[in-house]
Amino acid sequence: MADLVAVRNASRRADIPGHENALILSDDAARTTAIACGATADKLGDAQEILIPGRPFVRGIIRHIGHSIIQAMNCFIIAALSADGCIAKDDKHSPFNWTSKEDKKRFIEFTKKAGVVVMGSSTYATLPGALKERVNIVYSRSKKFEGAEVTAKEPAELLTELEGRGFKEVAICGGSHIYTMFMKAKVVDRLFLTIEPILFGKGVNLFNEDLLFHMNLVSTSQAENGALLLEYAVDYKGVGKGK
Ligand SMILES: NC(=O)c1ccc[n+]([C@@H]2O[C@H](COP(=O)([O-])OP(=O)(O)OC[C@H]3O[C@@H](n4cnc5c(N)ncnc54)[C@H](OP(=O)(O)O)[C@@H]3O)[C@@H](O)[C@H]2O)c1
Repeated sequence: MADLVAVRNASRRADIPGHENALILSDDAARTTAIACGATADKLGDAQEILIPGRPFVRGIIRHIGHSIIQAMNCFIIAALSADGCIAKDDKHSPFNWTSKEDKKRFIEFTKKAGVVVMGSSTYATLPGALKERVNIVYSRSKKFEGAEVTAKEPAELLTELEGRGFKEVAICGGSHIYTMFMKAKVVDRLFLTIEPILFGKGVNLFNEDLLFHMNLVSTSQAENGALLLEYAVDYKGVGKGK
């Protein structure tokens, strides 16, 4: 049997013991894309399809990067939360004066590595200006912003466009509307959440619509001030570990 394995991101192929060099496929959309990328029907016919993490691929964001590897765009959410689950007290409340230095460091490092940040117009309005050394993409239906590209595209369409521009990772930087829109579009792989030791009582939640997703905890660390820096992988199969 050909060594074909399904996974969303080729960089995580080491997650699949014995399939480190596998051609990576998923559902029909991935199969179609794989053919378009030059994989042969014969090979595909022999495919051993293991769905990891089990979500459908979004057509067009899969890249053929060699004889046998397909790599998908990596899309992560990054957010700081109060211990009671809020990202802000209101839509004008900036996270910069209540988040730990470790959270800020992680935000800068990860967003610079991605090279592109996506946010809503309310979040962008809380910033002093565009985030430097990153392409700033702002969701708005009507406004224009200095130093940023404005969009109203569907998440999958935006990711496809960014993938075409050579980005391998996209950082979704909020706020609640934008986190929710990307989560609902099922294009998010990872969530980097920092739980800060602070309570807001009421405020802007991380998400603002009804959602149900399972996640697997990938890593944790603790900041000096007691904040917890968590990394989760979205488990689109919906089983979660330990069930
Ligand atoms: N703690 C954290 O990590 C963190 C991170 C990010 C943000 N925040 C906070 O979150 C708050 C803002 O969150 P929010 O949910 O109120 O606002 P938001 O998500 O930042 O922005 C909402 C705006 O995005 C635009 N938008 C939304 N969906 C769109 C679509 N489909 N097409 C085009 N434009 C669309 C609309 O802008 P127009 O009205 O211009 O059309 C909408 O008013 C702020 O207080 C911010 O500081 C916290």
